[in-house]
Amino acid sequence: MSFNVAIDGPAGAGKSTVAKAVAGKMHLIYVDTGAMYRAMALFMIREGVNLREKAAIAEKCHEARITIRHEDGVQVVCLNEENVNSLIRTEEVSHAASLVSVIPEVRTTMVNLQKRLAADSDCIMDGRDIGTCVLPGAQLKIYLTASSEVRAKRRYDELAARGEACDLKTIQADIEDRDYRDMHREISPLKQAEDAVLVDTSHMTQEEVIHAVADLCTQARVRG
Ligand code: DC
Repeated sequence: MSFNVAIDGPAGAGKSTVAKAVAGKMHLIYVDTGAMYRAMALFMIREGVNLREKAAIAEKCHEARITIRHEDGVQVVCLNEENVNSLIRTEEVSHAASLVSVIPEVRTTMVNLQKRLAADSDCIMDGRDIGTCVLPGAQLKIYLTASSEVRAKRRYDELAARGEACDLKTIQADIEDRDYRDMHREISPLKQAEDAVLVDTSHMTQEEVIHAVADLCTQARVRG
């Protein structure tokens, strides 16, 4: 049986940075499920689909073939065979991803793919519904969070470092909107699984978080 770690939490909590680092330390494959929803969002933007029209998204999503592979430990997300890793981190795609991810047809396709990946490999998978829906039997579940102020500041610093113009207040408002949508949608809303360990990173350094999560993984592996 494969060893699976589920990490859920709101946008900007640091899930991907932590999961990536812990994957390296613990020899696990890192699966970033948000990237799959982002690839689907990019597809809808390119196709000119009105993101307020749920039926149009539900119909069109079957034309997007989203796959992931790993090259030197780095996840490569492909949309109809094209590597879209460098195109899915914009604010436009973030916003669109939170709209397409509420569509049941989109979620079913993504969740099936994620379950197959986890059955085939020891992995650490991050997202919103991993502990509650995708991998309910994961050996370790973590709910990683931080205050919206701290998360906005981290996103701001990231964008500023890439030279992208941004405004802190707008980013925070967008994060809070996204939290609301992720936590209140009908299907698989973001919530802490009953058996998940809560890690609030608001006052922790990245190194401290990586250390804490790696320790939890080691303990879970020992438990088996
Ligand atoms: O983690 P992220 O910001 O890359 O996720 C992009 C969007 O996809 C976000 O609005 C939440 C959604 N998402 C989801 O609904 N379920 C997941 N397992 C992962 C992401």
